Amino acid sequence: MADKKIDITYHEYASLDELSEQDRQLANEAILAMKGAYAPYSHFHVGAAIRMSNGKIVRGANQENAAFPSGLCAERTAMFSAGAQYPDKGMESLALAGGVMGRLTKEPATPCGACRQVMAQYQAKSGKPMSIIMVGSSKIWKFDRVDDILPLIFDSI
Ligand code: THU
Repeated sequence: MADKKIDITYHEYASLDELSEQDRQLANEAILAMKGAYAPYSHFHVGAAIRMSNGKIVRGANQENAAFPSGLCAERTAMFSAGAQYPDKGMESLALAGGVMGRLTKEPATPCGACRQVMAQYQAKSGKPMSIIMVGSSKIWKFDRVDDILPLIFDSI
């Protein structure tokens, strides 16, 4: 038996000003995307923005439904839309932001497991790393690849 360790490096920024121009733009797009949330049940508004390999930005927001499992997270709304609009382009980066009634959380919002699995698939599809930017009002986290938020990724059988 051997004990193994998984090390994950990520980047923490104190404010949007510390981000690169490109990342800051995407983070701001995610904040703007929160306006598209339809969350009459949780009142938690989540916005996501994806930068495609052709430079296009695709936004998404969570969409809830009276039949709860029929709703969808912001990240998957954005990824499925991006996949449908630009099937031949890769998703280079995805930013997300969330908050109750549109007020950004202090800590960065983090993606659910199902969204991470979908990110993994689109990253594998493009063959290039997809970075993930999680935005909070007190700090921002950036992960360089989906593997860093979903260790031991399920790929294919
Ligand atoms: N939600 C997202 O949009 N993304 C996540 O990664 C986690 C949760 C949404 C789903 C639901 O509409 C609301 O946040 C509360 O869970």
